[in-house]
Formats: sequence, structure tokens, C-alpha cells
Amino acid sequence: MKLKLRQERLSDHSAIAALILGAYRDISYSNHKEQIMVERLRNSDAFIPALSIVAENDNQDLVGHILFTKIQIRNQGQSYQALALAPLSVDPRYQKKGIGKKLVLEGHRVAKELGYNYVIVLGIPNYYPKFEYQFISKFNVSLPIKISAANALIVFLIKNNYLEITGGTVIYSEAFFG
Ligand SMILES: CC(C)(COP(=O)(O)OP(=O)(O)OC[C@H]1O[C@@H](n2cnc3c(N)ncnc32)[C@H](O)[C@@H]1OP(=O)(O)O)[C@@H](O)C(=O)NCCC(=O)NCCS
Repeated sequence: MKLKLRQERLSDHSAIAALILGAYRDISYSNHKEQIMVERLRNSDAFIPALSIVAENDNQDLVGHILFTKIQIRNQGQSYQALALAPLSVDPRYQKKGIGKKLVLEGHRVAKELGYNYVIVLGIPNYYPKFEYQFISKFNVSLPIKISAANALIVFLIKNNYLEITGGTVIYSEAFFG
């Protein structure tokens, strides 16, 4: 299967919503409202068009989607621009074929190009370490919500800035939690 990764278009919105719904259908920790969160984020200041990326198969069907939106990490009056990765969805019929991986890596590439150093994900602990994500608790970064430490991860896209953050609180856009 030839896969094309590209920025989402206006005409993709309903297909993306269906794709997200299908991907999270059997996920026990999901509230099955991730597609609504995406709609809210699209209409917010946190949205970066280049970082809503779809994977399209040979038939031009959407088989995967990833979204990165703006957040901040604040520490003692300092504010660092960062990104939240959420949601990440691959059509169940196309999972375990490397599509999720390609979307994460493409998102990182674009994010880096746009100058973002940090991405935080609230997600499956054993999926993201292969993309160099580490537990945020290691860096004394805290979240505004209660979540198991094992599910909160951060990646440093630009390694030179690795030590720039020595702690802080993540500030999400209101659209994130609804
Ligand atoms: C998680 C998800 C995006 C993975 O997409 P995918 O296209 O199946 O993943 P890939 O084929 O790119 O897998 C990449 C690697 O992760 C592994 N992997 C896949 N799904 C995994 C999972 N749920 N947990 C842990 N590892 C997983 C693969 O075995 C593969 O490992 P390898 O590189 O060593 O071979 C997809 O299963 C999905 O949409 N799930 C439902 C929604 C969800 O849970 N999203 C993430 C929320 S944080």
C-alpha cells in the first residue's frame, strides 16, 4: 500500500471525525469524544493547520490522522511554547502496518521545522518511548489534570534545548478539555 501523508483539508473534516470514532471505538479509557475535541481545537488559537496530518491510502481513503496543538509549559514567569499530541488515530483495519509511526515522525518533522522543541502526550505508555518520549515526571513537569504518571510523556525535538526546562506546569487551551 502506498501511503500519502498530507495536511488536512476542509473537505476531510467529516472523514477525519469518522476515522477517529472508529479508531477509539474499542479503547476502554476513551470517552469516545476525541472527534469533538478535534473540532473544538480546530476552532481555537491552539490550532496549527500544518500539524493536522492525514494518511491517505491508494484509494484516497483516510486511514490515519494525527493532531498537534499549541500548549505552554510555564515555570517561574517563563513560558515555553510546546505542543500536545492528541489524538492519534489509525483505522483498525490498517493498524500495525507502520501508519501510526509514520504520522508521529512526520508530525515531529513539521513541528521541528516550525521551531517547536517539546511535545507532550497523554497516552499509551508503551507506544511512545520508541519515538524517544520520556515520562514528564522525570523533568518535574506537572499537568493540570490527574493522570497516572505512566501516561504523561514528553519528547525533546531539538536536543540542544534538552535542559532548558527544569520543571513547570503545562497549560492547555480551554478547547482541549472542553
Ligand atoms: C495506537 C495506534 C495509533 C498505533 O497505530 P499503528 O499504525 O497500528 O502503529 P504502528 O504500526 O505504526 O506501530 C508502531 C510500533 O508500535 C507498536 N504498537 C502498535 N500499537 C501499539 C499499542 N497499542 N501499544 C504499544 N505498542 C504498539 C507496533 O508494534 C510497532 O512496533 P515496532 O515499530 O517495534 O514494530 C493505533 O493502534 C490506534 O489508532 N489506536 C486507537 C487509538 C489510540 O489508542 N490512539 C493513541 C492514544 S495515545
